[in-house]
Amino acid sequence: MEVVIVPDAKAGGALIAGAMADLLRRTPDALLGVATGSTPLPVYEALAAQVRSGSVDTSRARIAQLDEYVGLPADHPESYRSVLRREVLEPLGIGMDAFMGPDGAAEDVRAACEAYDRALAEAGGVDLQLLGIGTDGHIGFNEQCSSLVSRTRIKTLTEQTRVDNARFFGGAVDQVPHHVITQGIGTILEARHLVLLATGEGKADAIAATVEGPVAAVCPASALQMHPHATVVVDEAAASKLK
Ligand code: F6R
Repeated sequence: MEVVIVPDAKAGGALIAGAMADLLRRTPDALLGVATGSTPLPVYEALAAQVRSGSVDTSRARIAQLDEYVGLPADHPESYRSVLRREVLEPLGIGMDAFMGPDGAAEDVRAACEAYDRALAEAGGVDLQLLGIGTDGHIGFNEQCSSLVSRTRIKTLTEQTRVDNARFFGGAVDQVPHHVITQGIGTILEARHLVLLATGEGKADAIAATVEGPVAAVCPASALQMHPHATVVVDEAAASKLK
């Protein structure tokens, strides 16, 4: 595992956007795995700036979703599909035909999870998966004590995560779905390059456990230690509890 300490979130965003742009120059139809939440926004902004300046071509790029709420229609403004369309696909000039994600509105959620894992494999696998991290060490919606070999599946959100995400639902916790589909940790580990970005002091304990703790389900992100090509990009605040 490689750890890169950057001065701030903007520098982290620029660094990772640079890696994504390099990948797209080598592999124009690369499959980029993307996360939602606040942390990755500087990455998407920096990559969009490169697209606007013409220094990277995204016309053949493909995007894969990490997780999705269960029960929200796909066109709900807070479904992760809608969020990613607004924050990633449109700014990068990538059409929905190049997007893949689990069907959070499926009647048979288990079948939808299995279908998504199959679709990822049939697409050739994720080339670069961008990850954020929860304050408790979760990646995707693999909360603490998720199996480190888990596949894409339905999970129940913890009350803390629903409270954290209420900010996207006008502060109304009761509007936040109880369930999500998330790529499993085993699924995430199949990406060829994992890049985790963490910024701010609130992530410092989780980063210390991820990088220096034992590989343990109590810190799902510690599974990155088992990956042959994992990069953890942290600002100085998030790195502050590393030895
Ligand atoms: C969302 C996701 C989550 C977030 C994590 C951190 O797709 O994968 O694991 O990355 O909850 O969220 P922020 O970045 O908002 O602190």
